[in-house]
Amino acid sequence: MRIELVRGDITTQDVDAVVNAANSGLLGGGGVDGAIHAAAGPELLEACRRLRASTFPDGLPTGKAVATDAGRLPARWVIHTVGPIYPRAADPASDLASAYRQSLRVADELGAGSVAFPSISTGAYAYPLTEAAPIALRTVATSGSSVELVRFVLFGGAALDAFRRAERDLS
Ligand code: APR
Repeated sequence: MRIELVRGDITTQDVDAVVNAANSGLLGGGGVDGAIHAAAGPELLEACRRLRASTFPDGLPTGKAVATDAGRLPARWVIHTVGPIYPRAADPASDLASAYRQSLRVADELGAGSVAFPSISTGAYAYPLTEAAPIALRTVATSGSSVELVRFVLFGGAALDAFRRAERDLS
């Protein structure tokens, strides 16, 4: 598995699967969730509504992941996952690790060769970047997933710096 850190917009990434930092409602929102839905188009919301009407009537639990098609995105799939809301989570580190691990499990089930991740939970869900970045990298690096390329797409300089520091500390 190759792990890349890039600064950019996850909606433009030409990878097999893009991971969405969703909320349990699965019906869109702000941040990267809003950007992905805006770029993917209404088909993505329709696919999420079908999930809510079937597999996840009560919404997607924290730490779980589920895939849909990707609408107009360059990617083939969107893997929706819900990270912990840091101030409220009993064990945020374990929930965050689960969100990354379950997303890769879904990617393996799909046969995705390349996956782009945002920095899950470090926006509206207030997970400190310095704590989240090492968990993200360690979880992905030790996942045993058969995904060949994992690209962390960091939206701002602070996130990129935090992930670069974490990568140095891990090696
Ligand atoms: N590409 C990549 N990363 C992005 C993009 C983008 N286009 N837009 C935002 N981000 C980054 C943010 O800068 C942050 O580092 O994604 C990271 C996660 O932030 P949020 O999107 O706020 O997600 P999260 O903290 O997991 O909170 C999820 O916020 O947006 C709502 O509907 C979402 O309710 C859910 C909650």
